[in-house]
Amino acid sequence: MQGLDAQAVLRISTALAGEIVPVRLVETLLRTALENAGAESGTLALFRHEAWQVRAQARVLDGAVVLTQEGMSFDAGTLPVSIVQAVARSQQHIVVDDARESASLAQDDYIRRRRPRSILCVPLMRQAMLVGVLYLENNLASHVFTPAKAEVLEVIASQAAFALENARLYEELVDQNQQRAQAEEQLRSTLAELERATRLKAMGELVASIVHEVGQPIAAVDTSASAALRWLDRSPPDIGEAREMLTHISRSALRARTIIQGLRAKARNAEPQFAAFDLGEALREAAALVAGALDTMGVTLEMKGLDTPLAVHGDRVQLQQVAVNLLMNAAESMASLAPGPRPLSMACAQGDGHVRIVVEDAGPGIGPEAAQHLLKPLFTTKPNGMGMGLAICKSILDAHGGTLELRPREPTGMRAVFSLPRPAPGHR
Ligand SMILES: Nc1ncnc2c1ncn2[C@@H]1O[C@H](COP(=O)(O)OP(=O)(O)O)[C@@H](O)[C@H]1O
Ligand SMILES: [Mg+2]
Repeated sequence: MQGLDAQAVLRISTALAGEIVPVRLVETLLRTALENAGAESGTLALFRHEAWQVRAQARVLDGAVVLTQEGMSFDAGTLPVSIVQAVARSQQHIVVDDARESASLAQDDYIRRRRPRSILCVPLMRQAMLVGVLYLENNLASHVFTPAKAEVLEVIASQAAFALENARLYEELVDQNQQRAQAEEQLRSTLAELERATRLKAMGELVASIVHEVGQPIAAVDTSASAALRWLDRSPPDIGEAREMLTHISRSALRARTIIQGLRAKARNAEPQFAAFDLGEALREAAALVAGALDTMGVTLEMKGLDTPLAVHGDRVQLQQVAVNLLMNAAESMASLAPGPRPLSMACAQGDGHVRIVVEDAGPGIGPEAAQHLLKPLFTTKPNGMGMGLAICKSILDAHGGTLELRPREPTGMRAVFSLPRPAPGHR
């Protein structure tokens, strides 16, 4: 059997350094140790977290090295515990020329049973710390392990210890990476879930907005169409009035389309279309849009201060939506009143730096507890209400740097006030 020469050491070192997967590293260590030192069997025991564990055992069977990596415990069934502990204590290798001749070793259970002859046990040291032992034996021949071999094996063992430690770190790293990848995957799917939920919610809100906002112009189309038919059914038909109604219809349809475009832009998260325009004119137009509905409900609308030009900067259609919502809420609130006058007013006042629009009705107004919820989406006290109107008004005014307030009005009714910042003089 060949001894360990410099070349063998180099070969083993290279092999060990090349292995980063612990299973293969252990195999390389035991196989080369067995082949080069002339041992019949070898065991690698590691000392980790204050406890011994048998990592692997290799045996030469019919000229081939057979490796076992599992199912071995650190006891007399696997290796001579007394020798391992002596090596661990002294941190020096132990060479036994012929264990059968040694009286002290005869006490060891393992030695008694297996009756090995040559024994070599070297410590695996890493930075002055014991990380394990490599135990080799030969049952056939005595004097197999010379002190020279022992020393070389010790060098290899320390390299193995180093490689094993790296391998362990590598394993931990792989483990951590797997855990991190798993956590990342989980986070990703949670985020995707959240995003989908948010999109669905936005979709739901969009649908609610469309139904709410477009409902008004469609109702206006309905009313005007019926009126037009009535004018045409007269004999003789009143073409002039019918034409007027058709103009109303066309205007309402245009408005519905503009609203949908606005909502679509909002859904795309687009900024509202800001431009300078005359607020008074826009509000008069909004009032004209609901005129038919107000008429049907027996409501008379009075407008104050809307004739003087009032330059503001904002999204014209959105601000018209605010006015329409407030006017319709006011009119609807008076539906429950006993027959009689249903006065509604929309007035405009200019302060320094802002414009205030006040919409007042003579309905029942609102109790203090409901008052805190008016602006919340989906809050409604109406059987067929959607509770979106005021929430939409609020978000529109927020986008304009304006405000919205709803207060009880004396002696009865509601007073809705929205304000908008005035562009500084010279600003367009
Ligand atoms: N002028 C008003 N007078 C009395 N209550 C009002 C008035 N305006 C709004 N409200 C209350 O605020 C609620 C929410 O209004 P809104 O957001 O427009 O939704 P909706 O009109 O669909 O109910 C109404 O259901 C009503 O209870
Ligand atoms: Mg409403």
